[in-house]
Amino acid sequence: MTSHADIVRDHYQAAIVDRAALLARLSAAIDSMEPPIDARKLAPLDQFHMGGLAATVAVAARVAPRRGARVLDAGSGLGGPARYLAETFGAEVEGVDLSPDYVAVAELLTERAGLTGQVTFREGDLTRLPFENARFDLVWTQHVAMNIADRAGLYGELRRVLKPGGRLAFYDPIAADGHPELIYPVPWAVSAETTTLLTAAETREVVESAGFRVATLEDVTEEAFGWAAQQGPPAQPGAVNAGTIVGARMAEMAANFGKNLREGRVRLMAGIANAA
Ligand SMILES: C[S@@+](CC[C@H](N)C(=O)[O-])C[C@H]1O[C@@H](n2cnc3c(N)ncnc32)[C@H](O)[C@@H]1O
Repeated sequence: MTSHADIVRDHYQAAIVDRAALLARLSAAIDSMEPPIDARKLAPLDQFHMGGLAATVAVAARVAPRRGARVLDAGSGLGGPARYLAETFGAEVEGVDLSPDYVAVAELLTERAGLTGQVTFREGDLTRLPFENARFDLVWTQHVAMNIADRAGLYGELRRVLKPGGRLAFYDPIAADGHPELIYPVPWAVSAETTTLLTAAETREVVESAGFRVATLEDVTEEAFGWAAQQGPPAQPGAVNAGTIVGARMAEMAANFGKNLREGRVRLMAGIANAA
């Protein structure tokens, strides 16, 4: 039987028919970049959320992990946010993601960025994390929760792996009050089947029920808009962006995400919660 996780994984990997060919294409694109290979140069490809690198920088400034802090990037995608936290703050980052092709891309980009060892990735489901209790100082998650129906299971696991006094930083699409219908496809789903948006109040409630105290919950919709318009095919031959991974529908998906935001069907919220 096809599970919810199978549908989500298939959605993200739908355009990857030949992983080796994709990795070779990405490698060639990186070969043509001026070293060093850093977060800014990889951002059109690997910051897979509304607002791109600027959104990651803004959330990171709110939590600023110390050098050597152990960070979990929950739903790490292609690894852009994880590498940014390592490069900028000296954090030790472990990423977990459902999609093995994304983990393979994340590992390639990390090696090319010279961060192997400091940033690692593994395949896994956030509702069943492959870590012992109290491993991390910070759990970071961006644009993943909307794919996970079992929110109590998700935040329960994120709380379990946090040290006492640890923090959760999240940046997610949030349903407008009344849960209006979305226009599909969006970057995370082609239909309502694999979308579970909560309102801000519902998010606060489920996060706090899992053993957190929400310290801040901010509407950051206006900060993030410009990204949607930049998701067409790259202008330069050989260049890569998120559409190289997601396929030709990326521009339409990103445009619909922007339309949903403009029409007030969805909002973007950034929050910090402390392990209670
Ligand atoms: C829109 S991407 C965001 C990736 C990354 N956080 C970023 O902002 O660049 C969503 C990611 O969540 C992952 N994902 C969805 N459901 C998941 C689950 N249950 N467990 C782990 N990863 C999941 C997908 O495989 C995908 O890589």
